[in-house]
Amino acid sequence: MTLVGTACALFFWKGICTLKNSKPVSSSQVVMTQLVLPSHTNSLGTIFGGTIMSWIDIAAAIAAQRHSNKEVVTASIDRLDFVAPVYKGWVVNLKASVNFTSRTSMEVGVRVDAENPKTGEMFHTASAYCTFVALGSNGKPTEIPSLELVTEDDKRRYEQAQRRREIRLQNKANS
Ligand SMILES: CC(C)(COP(=O)(O)OP(=O)(O)OC[C@H]1O[C@@H](n2cnc3c(N)ncnc32)[C@H](O)[C@@H]1OP(=O)(O)O)[C@@H](O)C(=O)NCCC(=O)NCCS
Repeated sequence: MTLVGTACALFFWKGICTLKNSKPVSSSQVVMTQLVLPSHTNSLGTIFGGTIMSWIDIAAAIAAQRHSNKEVVTASIDRLDFVAPVYKGWVVNLKASVNFTSRTSMEVGVRVDAENPKTGEMFHTASAYCTFVALGSNGKPTEIPSLELVTEDDKRRYEQAQRRREIRLQNKANS
């Protein structure tokens, strides 16, 4: 094979490897539904914030695990605002998507909506951005597949997440 032929073959092989090692956002998305039981609520009959935080962490971890096919740990969770109360007997729907991947870490966005079962009305309750790190069998951070951006929403979320990562790492360095 000539030098040019070898270079082309290598380029082609690298392309195949790159394609193999990336996954679309849709392949790891999580939809999780919970019923608000009396044990989840406070004396006002509304849900504990910590319960929602725990569900956010679980939904996001499942998305991160699905994307990486590795054990993952939560490295950080950005600011979390609770924008509306959720009452006993309501249904909570969580949607988690991988927004951004770097070498070993990924940002997962979670949107939480509450549903009043008597009226069918949906209320946006909270949104959060969580960063997970994939761990190898030695317990150290390990490489993860990159993200295949298919839709305009995927691209917009990726760019926004990239900016959040820069701020996050800057804040970490300053702390
Ligand atoms: C998260 C953890 C694995 C990072 O380990 P580390 O030795 O600092 O690893 P590194 O510095 O090589 O960073 C690994 C990745 O994590 C990212 N990272 C580290 N700390 C971070 C933070 N606070 N927020 C966001 N990302 C972070 C780095 O940017 C890097 O990403 P990249 O490889 O995609 O560029 C480690 O701090 C840890 O185990 N923390 C405890 C996790 C835990 O117990 N979580 C709660 C229960 S699951």
